[in-house]
Amino acid sequence: MTDIPTITLNNGVDMPQLGFGVFLVPADEVVEPVRSALDAGYRLIDTATLYGNEEGVGRAIVESGIPRDEIFVTTKVWNSDQGYDRTLQAFDHSLKLLGLDVVDLYLIHWPTPARDLYVDTWRALERIYADGRARAIGVSNFTVAHLDRVIGEGTVVPAVNQIELHPGLPQDELRAAHARHGIATEAWSPIGRAQGLLDRREVAAIADAHDRSAAQVVLRWHIQLGNVVIPKSVRPERIRENIDVFDFELTTDEMAVLSALDGPGRVGPDPETMNRA
Ligand SMILES: NC(=O)c1ccc[n+]([C@@H]2O[C@H](COP(=O)([O-])OP(=O)(O)OC[C@H]3O[C@@H](n4cnc5c(N)ncnc54)[C@H](OP(=O)(O)O)[C@@H]3O)[C@@H](O)[C@H]2O)c1
Repeated sequence: MTDIPTITLNNGVDMPQLGFGVFLVPADEVVEPVRSALDAGYRLIDTATLYGNEEGVGRAIVESGIPRDEIFVTTKVWNSDQGYDRTLQAFDHSLKLLGLDVVDLYLIHWPTPARDLYVDTWRALERIYADGRARAIGVSNFTVAHLDRVIGEGTVVPAVNQIELHPGLPQDELRAAHARHGIATEAWSPIGRAQGLLDRREVAAIADAHDRSAAQVVLRWHIQLGNVVIPKSVRPERIRENIDVFDFELTTDEMAVLSALDGPGRVGPDPETMNRA
């Protein structure tokens, strides 16, 4: 079983550098892939209220028999639950569905700037953190301006910003801002949802050179950059493939080639205009 390195967040909490995402895995099908991931050695599970599968994630964790404190659980407050009071209620509901007393990381899923509630929402996360019900709190899809605002108006610096990031969307400006503030960069759609990126000839050439798959090479690029990654798959062989990235090393030139890929750009929404409730 693969041993996954951890990174230390700005509050001293350790977070596995590679985890398992469950977006678009239906509620009644989520237990099996999460069990496969835990069996393969994953110790970070990334869910969200939006995904509608928190209950199944909680069940898979219990059924695995792995001690609770060995699994890092992330969930997120959905856009329609933003605002101080609603976020506190949404958090209670997530804990109930997950069957947990504490989550390891609670995130604001999107800033939804047109609604302008993310600072109030952040205050609710600060309260949850102060009460010891989330070991760390962070944000997702925040731009530099959104980060500056919560840091300026809040009392806790987010531990994590979970953003779309992959070769073709390297997010250099945000990564530099994260480094300035001590915020960990967590990459969603780390293999670009396998849409185009994995077929690029530059990726294929590096994969051939290491006798690895295109997905493994892309995930390795993230690891060497210091990103946390949460690839999703419902197929046991891919679940095992995606974690098997800790016994080879890309060269400086290979890293540069992947960092400079001219596309694909975003496979998901733009945070500046994503205001869906
Ligand atoms: N915060 C946010 O706003 C946000 C947004 C999107 C995602 N996320 C999180 O990030 C996680 C990952 O992102 P994602 O699911 O969008 O994209 P992803 O992990 O980049 O890609 C998942 C897609 O790639 C396929 N795949 C997985 N491993 C593969 C491999 N080794 N070779 C070829 N294809 C492979 C999967 O198909 P199969 O399942 O059929 O294998 C699935 O279609 C999500 O599950 C979620 O937890 C967060």
